[in-house]
Amino acid sequence: MKATITHIKADIGSLPGHTTVYGPVVEAVRKYVKEKGESLLSDFHISYVGDDIQITMVHNKGVDCPEIHELAWNAFKSGTDLARKVGLYGAGQDLLKDSFSGNIKGMGPGIAEMEITPRKSEPFIVYMMDKTEPGAFNYPIFKMFADPYNTPGLVIDSNMHDGFIFEIWDIVEAKRIFLSAPEHMYDILGMIGSKGRYVIKRVHTKPNHEKLPDENVAVITTDKLSFIAGEYVGKDDPAGIVRIQSGLPASGEAMEAFSHPYLVSGWMRGSFNGPLMPVAMKDAKMTRFDGPPRVVGLGFVLKDGKLAGPVDMFDDPAFDGARRTAVKVVDYLRRMGPFEPHRVPEEDMEYTTLPRVLEKYKGQFEAVPDIQKKKKEVKLSTKDVD
Ligand code: F6R
Ligand code: MG
Ligand code: MG
Repeated sequence: MKATITHIKADIGSLPGHTTVYGPVVEAVRKYVKEKGESLLSDFHISYVGDDIQITMVHNKGVDCPEIHELAWNAFKSGTDLARKVGLYGAGQDLLKDSFSGNIKGMGPGIAEMEITPRKSEPFIVYMMDKTEPGAFNYPIFKMFADPYNTPGLVIDSNMHDGFIFEIWDIVEAKRIFLSAPEHMYDILGMIGSKGRYVIKRVHTKPNHEKLPDENVAVITTDKLSFIAGEYVGKDDPAGIVRIQSGLPASGEAMEAFSHPYLVSGWMRGSFNGPLMPVAMKDAKMTRFDGPPRVVGLGFVLKDGKLAGPVDMFDDPAFDGARRTAVKVVDYLRRMGPFEPHRVPEEDMEYTTLPRVLEKYKGQFEAVPDIQKKKKEVKLSTKDVD
């Protein structure tokens, strides 16, 4: 029998400002899901990372089930009522479009879900990131499912040796493509290196996978896809579900992909690049420059619709080195202040409040005479050649 894992997350108010969640609000969300989800869900788990509350649900209603989505939406609404009452910062911000936080992104919950054929033992990890964007998953997901230096199982395990299929979304054009690794590895990298545009949405096994043919084995929130009135809508801080073991990356191979604190976008005001720091849940508080961006991993097993776990996967001194490196990178980058490449490139600032600030200079730019003249000359001489 199939099972569906649905993970939905939202920022519905933070303390003191985009730093962390407020315990009683998390409890209000938990209470709602427990009471109203009784007949819909076989199990669920509530967690949080930074300012985002995360609902992991198990059921048998398939993906895109309106009742399941509505349950999460209403749970967030019920948490929002309390968040408003105590005056949390940005209360209900991901549910309403009237609460702006310096970036047009971040206007609704993020959703990652997959319908699976559960194995005898079905282990999986839910990764949750704060202060970054869906493209932040490109690097570790590629490493887990396509890089033999990260995942020796791709070399050693006959069940993994044929590789995996990557479903990549172009979130600017709202299009998708399915590419196989290792055959199209360089093309995949050519795309997903541009993490603001091409994002890995899912990973699938190939039809000849001995243990799990044609199965969805990883899914990431990519809710930037939606466009409203020609603008991005956000839900940026992403989460992903990765199935592990037995013909899939081992737990440690999935975790190893985060041992290097690679650079991601979306830090402070959604406008800065910084290292992704792997942390335990207790350390998922965004205090330094609203960050640095962090990832938490919770490990579960699923059996007959019930979850065992979670294990707080980065709560391990073996990741201390990655954390130290991340802090060193933070110290280094912060000295650059508002300069690129610490600040994201000009084109990404289009979705922030900066254009509004610079609006007043729009009509004041004047042509630089010599350069304009040269431009004309170059155009003319090109025509001559034609
Ligand atoms: C929000 C975030 C924060 C805010 C910043 C300014 O997830 O990343 O860095 O952008 O704290 O917030 P406002 O504009 O609401 O004061
Ligand atoms: Mg926030
Ligand atoms: Mg957040």
